[in-house]
Amino acid sequence: MNSPKVLVVDDDPMIRDALAEILSSVGGYVTDVAMNGSEGIEKIKDKPYDIVFTDLTMPQVNGMDLLRETRKINSDLPVVVVTGFSTIENAVAAMKEGAYDFITKPFKIQQVISLAKRIIGERRQLNDVTIKENQKASIDRLNAELFSKLQEISIFQSLSTELDGLHNNKDIYERIVEMVTRLLEVKEASFGILENGYLKIKSAIGTRVKSIPIRGSIFENALKNRNFYLAKCEEINPHSETAIASSFLTIPLSLNHEVFGLLNLAERADGAAFSEDEIYLAMNFAKKAALRIENNALYDILYNNLVNALKSLVITIEARDPYTRHHSERVTTYSLDIAEVMNLSDEDKDAIRFGGYLHDIGKIGVRDTVLLKPDRLTPEEVEEIRLHTVIGDNIMKPLNFFEREKPLIRNHHERIDGRGYPDGLMGAEIPLIVKVIAVADSYDAMTSSRPYRKARSHEFALEEMVRCSNTQFDADVVKAFLNTTALKKKGIWVFN
Ligand SMILES: [Fe+2]
Repeated sequence: MNSPKVLVVDDDPMIRDALAEILSSVGGYVTDVAMNGSEGIEKIKDKPYDIVFTDLTMPQVNGMDLLRETRKINSDLPVVVVTGFSTIENAVAAMKEGAYDFITKPFKIQQVISLAKRIIGERRQLNDVTIKENQKASIDRLNAELFSKLQEISIFQSLSTELDGLHNNKDIYERIVEMVTRLLEVKEASFGILENGYLKIKSAIGTRVKSIPIRGSIFENALKNRNFYLAKCEEINPHSETAIASSFLTIPLSLNHEVFGLLNLAERADGAAFSEDEIYLAMNFAKKAALRIENNALYDILYNNLVNALKSLVITIEARDPYTRHHSERVTTYSLDIAEVMNLSDEDKDAIRFGGYLHDIGKIGVRDTVLLKPDRLTPEEVEEIRLHTVIGDNIMKPLNFFEREKPLIRNHHERIDGRGYPDGLMGAEIPLIVKVIAVADSYDAMTSSRPYRKARSHEFALEEMVRCSNTQFDADVVKAFLNTTALKKKGIWVFN
């Protein structure tokens, strides 16, 4: 009786080869492999198989497409889908489409074998094939190989998670070299960006080179083919300009199909060559790093554009009203001084730095006749001015940034006693950074000339703030304000 024939379709060579080897060495099946969905379909058309194992997630023709095509070519051919545990619902969907069964990754050798056995048994009514004693050694060897591959995958996953936590490209440049050295155990690694015909090294381990000319170097091969290049021993190591001792692998990193950098790994600690699995792992890692770098760059562009747009809006508002010119800037400076005295966190200071600047952004929606009125305001006009907090909030609301800054814009006119606006928040309901801005804002409003009154003196403003502690203002914030360096420098007031 001929051995049953099994086709394994997976774009991940580690999983593909592990599965094929388990099926051939332990199960005794004749195995064939396909590295993507289209190749799988072609092979199913050409050859008679008894089972097909297929990955679900593959580029272009995925496992579901292959399953549907197989149903058309040979509706009796059992297809087993291989899926990650977290995507089990995909396996269920595949079963509904006619998959014979599914296994989850990481799979166990016995599980694969007994599944294949059961299918063959059911399909051909054969007796169970038991794993013979003399196959124990190969089971042990495969188990060890599988274990080490799973270890690699789990290291890769933890590195990917670490990479996701980095939001600054400078940090990423440094960390990718450390990570990849850990992942593939190399003595030399570098990451560089392509610039005017040179690879400008951004971070490196085991080499101090800063800039490498591309022309005439082994990098040309990787750049020409936009693919990894595994240099041979007689070639020149661009890190040291000496002959490569054991290995040198260079991997291009691309954004929008343009190569922008190279990740280089050289001289394996054990002197061995890079295996296909390791190259695949390093390529995946580089792909992941490139995506992270792209996301950060996009985020930075978006954030900076937004910040600049909002800043020009503030400048526009202040240009309309000569009395408040530079008000936002001063409020921010006073608030940062208070934050310093109160020992607030860097995050709080960042929120103040930006939110202080924007706190009156809603004034863009207040009419000039009201904003610049030289006489006392009517109650209706006071209401209109007060609306600037809500208008500002509405401007910021659709933006998915600035969550910490938003309360500074909406709530900087709230009072500790709940008599402020727009929400009438009280005491602890008002975030501390908002209380800080409220103090700085009131001080600057009192000491600046308004259309309807002249600036009050510095002393008057401070007395007023002390008088209104615990009603309008948070007493600790007022105390901190009185102790700020700026005031101390003026030599006017130190409050304990
Ligand atoms: Fe305001």
